[in-house]
Amino acid sequence: MKTCYFTATGNCLYVAERIGGELLSIPQLMRQDEIVIEDEAVGIVCPVYAVEMPMMVREFMQRARIDTDYFFFIYTYGEGYAEALAHAESVAREVGLDLAYANTVQMVDNYLPGFEMGQQRESLARKDVDGQLERVCADIAARRERKVEMKVGTKAKMLMWQKMLAERILRKDTAQGYIVSDACTRCGICARVCPANNITVGDGVSFADRCEVCYACLHACPQGALHIPGERSEARFRNEHIPLKRIIEANDQTRV
Ligand SMILES: Cc1cc2nc3c(=O)[nH]c(=O)nc-3n(C[C@H](O)[C@H](O)[C@H](O)COP(=O)(O)O)c2cc1C
Ligand code: SF4
Ligand code: SF4
Repeated sequence: MKTCYFTATGNCLYVAERIGGELLSIPQLMRQDEIVIEDEAVGIVCPVYAVEMPMMVREFMQRARIDTDYFFFIYTYGEGYAEALAHAESVAREVGLDLAYANTVQMVDNYLPGFEMGQQRESLARKDVDGQLERVCADIAARRERKVEMKVGTKAKMLMWQKMLAERILRKDTAQGYIVSDACTRCGICARVCPANNITVGDGVSFADRCEVCYACLHACPQGALHIPGERSEARFRNEHIPLKRIIEANDQTRV
């Protein structure tokens, strides 16, 4: 089994680890000229972004040749995923993949303009992450099917969410709005956790125009020096099971 994942703050890496198989980082796979993934089971674990998948995961699905009898797709999310599973189903269909098993795991919501990270950590008590994970892992281990139902109106709702949220939030030039405070020590960690190679640290910290809006940089900065207008507080988040070096290994594009 091969489990491909995209992570900014560790939730998806933790879920991918629990599901098991050979773990493959999508940002690292995207550096290859040709992406071929073959196995009896292949899956994707990624966060919900604006009730869709991250832009890079969509591009990955479009570019990769995935050859498997059992394709699964797991979203981690914070407070609501609306038609995100239907979106995954429609992208899978578009690229000729039969989505055998689709499910979600509710975890901390790391969307800084929407949620306060202290409150989000407290929300874990009601979310029962372990219970959700046990069910998902058992289903995948048994190669069970869980199809996404495309009902009448689902497509219209997907388009509505796209207009209301995704088109506004998921824009590659969003990083232009990020603020670097005087607390920055130019340690370079933000550049190394960036899955899109969008950050350069020299005399200062600068952002290009390839931002995935994942917030890995904001959450990982050890000085709390990175900010966005409208963030709920200065608190930041990383999944308690995942050390910073694992996020760097997953996302670092600065190594040749
Ligand atoms: C730009 C952005 C948009 C998001 N949109 C949603 C959303 O629509 N619904 C939701 O429940 N969570 C949303 N989230 C929260 C993430 O899906 C959630 O925290 C996820 O578990 C993060 O996974 P990671 O720790 O592997 O990066 C969003 C996060 C970001 C950064
Ligand atoms: S991680 Fe923070 S302190 Fe380090 S270079 Fe980036 S902004 Fe500066
Ligand atoms: S600049 Fe920050 S938010 Fe944008 S892709 Fe890189 S790590 Fe993610």
